[in-house]
Amino acid sequence: MTSNPNSILLTGGAGYIGSHTYVALVEAGYNPVILDDFSNSHPAVLARLERITGRPVVCERRDVADTAFVQAMLQRHAVAAVVHFAGFKSVGESVAQPLKYYRNNVGGMVSLLQAMDAANCRTLVFSSSATVYGDPASVPITEDFPTSHTNPYGHTKLVCEDMLAALRTANPAWQVGVLRYFNPVGAHPSGLIGEDPSGIPNNLMPYVAQVAVGRRPCLNVYGNDYATPDGTGVRDYIHVQDLAQGHVAASQALLDDGEGGDSFTVNLGTGKGHSVLDVVRAFEQASGRPVPYQIMPRRQGDVAQCYADPALAQRLLGWRATHSLADMCADAWRWQSQNPEGYE
Ligand code: UD1
Repeated sequence: MTSNPNSILLTGGAGYIGSHTYVALVEAGYNPVILDDFSNSHPAVLARLERITGRPVVCERRDVADTAFVQAMLQRHAVAAVVHFAGFKSVGESVAQPLKYYRNNVGGMVSLLQAMDAANCRTLVFSSSATVYGDPASVPITEDFPTSHTNPYGHTKLVCEDMLAALRTANPAWQVGVLRYFNPVGAHPSGLIGEDPSGIPNNLMPYVAQVAVGRRPCLNVYGNDYATPDGTGVRDYIHVQDLAQGHVAASQALLDDGEGGDSFTVNLGTGKGHSVLDVVRAFEQASGRPVPYQIMPRRQGDVAQCYADPALAQRLLGWRATHSLADMCADAWRWQSQNPEGYE
């Protein structure tokens, strides 16, 4: 069966980054279909996607590890490429429950690749993370920096990257784009979709947003004695809309290249570092609300600075981030203030 070059399967397409990428792919003329088990996402996102795009969403509710089901789905929709988001992403939870992470992130990937091989679909974009750089020796980080891991979550991302490299060695027909995300934040400018963490947010931006909206009293700033300009941790925050465009560019590059074309591994970041206090100030500005904070001890496993050299993505994919920290905060605030309890 020949595939439809516009048909793209998004595993985990109902999640935070998956849902924004869904919209960007539709706007670029693709027909994305979603596979999601809603273990860490909300079915209400589907109606929001229909409102934004003005067309019905095709979504199948199933675990990505159901090999036979995924193979049949790939064939049913004549899928040309898969973007694989489905995976767990909490560092702390991965330390407490490592097998949950290896099963879903590594086992899910093995199953997906087997299903793709059986369906003769060998084009994949993979959601990796800057976590694969461990504690970088310097910044900005280029893709040839050594990789390492300090927790099971990070290890699963590295294992998946290695698995994809081995697969390409075994069969050069595989075309793989590995995207190493820096710190995705912000929301769709409509305020209809955004990040909706369950329980207490682990990540900075959703925590700050919940303080600003009054759901939590105060931000804990984990350390102000790092070797950074103001002592707090520096990260490369990237607007989720820019990240979504990065997936469109990566899919296009692989699909336009024909079978066995060039695979790539690229950073998706802005190349700019912002401190925790930069984010607090930018969010206060965007929201007009105070964000009270207290300085706490460092969080275990945190690094002082982490930001990308994004030049390779620009060269290979013609992609670069265009949104500022102010844009990220304005859109995160619109989402948070319009949906104070998330999708509930
Ligand atoms: C974290 C993960 C990383 C993962 C990424 C996914 C850790 C150690 N790292 O990255 O592996 O890929 O999320 O999005 O969990 N901060 C506070 N107060 C808070 C929360 C964060 O001060 O309540 C600070 C942190 O110390 C850090 C910065 O804000 O300096 C960003 O933290 P976070 O949003 O959790 O991202 P990372 O730690 O970069």
